[in-house]
Amino acid sequence: MTDATDWLGLKGKVCAITGAGGGIGRAVALAMVRVGARVVLLDRDAATCALTQAAVRALGADAPCIACDVSDPASVTEAAALAGPVDVLVNNAGLLRPGPIATLPLAEWNQLLSVNLTGYFLCAQAFGAKMIERRSGALVHIASIASRFPQGFSGAYSVSKAGVVMLSQQLALEWGPSGIRSNVVSPGLVRTPMSEAFYQAPGVAEKRASIVPLGRVAVPDDIADVVVYLASARAGYVNGEDICTDGGFGRVLMSLVPRPGFEG
Ligand SMILES: NC(=O)c1ccc[n+]([C@@H]2O[C@H](COP(=O)([O-])OP(=O)(O)OC[C@H]3O[C@@H](n4cnc5c(N)ncnc54)[C@H](O)[C@@H]3O)[C@@H](O)[C@H]2O)c1
Repeated sequence: MTDATDWLGLKGKVCAITGAGGGIGRAVALAMVRVGARVVLLDRDAATCALTQAAVRALGADAPCIACDVSDPASVTEAAALAGPVDVLVNNAGLLRPGPIATLPLAEWNQLLSVNLTGYFLCAQAFGAKMIERRSGALVHIASIASRFPQGFSGAYSVSKAGVVMLSQQLALEWGPSGIRSNVVSPGLVRTPMSEAFYQAPGVAEKRASIVPLGRVAVPDDIADVVVYLASARAGYVNGEDICTDGGFGRVLMSLVPRPGFEG
């Protein structure tokens, strides 16, 4: 029976968010608080994490900020111990660095994978242990449209995101029998601190908006809403899925083909 005052079933649930100081991480934290969840904020950047904490407090709630480098196993283990059992883990902390494959230094390849892919694995394992014990939990991983379409000259970024999608599917399979769901949100173009430098270049914001069928670049709340849904009881039978949240951008391929007489 659904409680009409808690349609999402997230009231009082504890949700840990990695990269909580960033654009999407902060929006997820605030969206979770708005639906009654308690949030635990993790980021390796204490200053931006504190800004998210202040935004949570402005909503009348509170949240611990835990300094955590997701690429460091000891740091992740310590953060999971400090956080205690959680109902939801949002794997979100990520990096984007430029680099052509032809000349990419191995150290840069490894560094990006250690955060964007191994970091997701380490957090799933550390926070998932208690979920397995309690036979309940939800994992939501932020991948990217770049997991489906290669984003050139971005080193291991697309590869890391494709790995996240398969990691999530494997978790869905291995942990489903323990009552734990694992799903992915794949954002398209979102304006956040990660991408802000692109938007500062003349004409980029307008050009990017114009190539998305919905006519705009996403704001972090567009992504947070889908994360909340996948974490919620309303997605209780959704497991191993990937919701591409891109305003339709992934569907534009055929519109690149010149087809006289078929213009809109
Ligand atoms: N912005 C976009 O257009 C876009 C599109 C698709 C996917 N994504 C993905 O969304 C997620 C969030 O990105 P965002 O746009 O909010 O970026 P952001 O840079 O605003 O936030 C990322 C956060 O992750 C933290 N972080 C980085 N490395 C870390 C580490 N080793 N340990 C702990 N925290 C670490 C940063 O300090 C930062 O607060 C990322 O996984 C990103 O790849 C973003």
